[in-house]
Amino acid sequence: MYDVEQIRKDFPIFDVRINDKANTFLDSGASAQKPRCVTDKMRQIYTEEYANVHRGSYRLSEEITAAYEDARKTVRQFLNAASAAEIVFTRNATESINLVAASWGRKFLTSADEVLISEAEHHANLVPWQVLRDEIGFGLKICRVNDDGSFDWGDFCQKLSGKTKLVAVTGMSNVLGTILPVKEIVSAAHRVGAKVLIDACQLAVHQKIDIRDLDCDFLAFSGHKTYGPTGIGVLYGKYDILDSMPPYQCGGDMVDVVTYQSATFDVPPARFEAGTPAIVQAIGLAEALKYMMSVGLDNIKRYEDELTTYAVAELSKIAGLHMIGTAEGKGGIFSFIIDGIHPQDLAFILDKEGIAVRVGHHCAAPLVHRMGYESVVRASLGLYNTKTDIDVLCKALNKAKTFF
Ligand code: ALA
Repeated sequence: MYDVEQIRKDFPIFDVRINDKANTFLDSGASAQKPRCVTDKMRQIYTEEYANVHRGSYRLSEEITAAYEDARKTVRQFLNAASAAEIVFTRNATESINLVAASWGRKFLTSADEVLISEAEHHANLVPWQVLRDEIGFGLKICRVNDDGSFDWGDFCQKLSGKTKLVAVTGMSNVLGTILPVKEIVSAAHRVGAKVLIDACQLAVHQKIDIRDLDCDFLAFSGHKTYGPTGIGVLYGKYDILDSMPPYQCGGDMVDVVTYQSATFDVPPARFEAGTPAIVQAIGLAEALKYMMSVGLDNIKRYEDELTTYAVAELSKIAGLHMIGTAEGKGGIFSFIIDGIHPQDLAFILDKEGIAVRVGHHCAAPLVHRMGYESVVRASLGLYNTKTDIDVLCKALNKAKTFF
């Protein structure tokens, strides 16, 4: 049984009152709260075990190097990747996608090619491709989402062609909550010889990813959304593809032989981790992933799906509330507006009730505009949210309506 009250006890922040109200945190889509095991581990490392990695021939450095590389093995296990060498630590998912664009994209894309993304992309999986397109001259195609926020499979198939060299799509929209049919997308893309990058920032938090089953070529996610620290992200890449790519940044720890004239580079993943990495954050991320695995990714999905069904039902009872994104099977992200109330005013009123939501275009401005809005309120779930959180939200929304 999923004991959410027990889970909440692992997150000290829920003891903190907000504006003298219970802490109703509904902004995990932006960044998730941290369980005690993550902060305890990071504090322990900084206070008792800290040194640099890969550089010291003394005990502390050797031990923390082993812990850092163990963190990589934990990510491998979390994704069911074939090898820890396929796991590159980055600063966040944004940096992971930029790495693919700058390294793989610059080397392999030509003006004759096309990159296919979707309308549901976060700026992080749109802007790097726009900038690279302007440099290289490839075609940037954007497949549609339907008005309910579902993925337009027909449009995707129409735009996918022998010219498509890369399909780069989100696994779960951070605005609509839509879960894209990533496995089918990967199969279809591979049939035309395209590589596939999945932005799994939202997806990785809510459901199990089996990367060998999914068979994508690249996948990116952020530590801070998976209950880990900020400043750490992951790029998964199939080893042979990573090995075919030039470095993205250069400096210490990613080189093989260096002379004043030139340098040769280390193998992946070291090739893509120039400079001192985010050591403690990587180990903190591993703790967070172990925490999620101990709760069970399938249990998390089952629980959050139930909560999503409840939230959709309760929110739909509020007259004048319009949900943006109602695709079947959507995850726990609820973007909405209420007639006659500016989203920013709504967020302000909710904050007074101790409720955290995000408001605006959610770093996906073209998508929010495509859905017909400038700004929307977004409530997003984490593994610690409860039906009470949804009830508190709905009550506060009904109260807000009485002010206008
Ligand atoms: N990408 C994060 C969000 O959707 C920050 O809020």
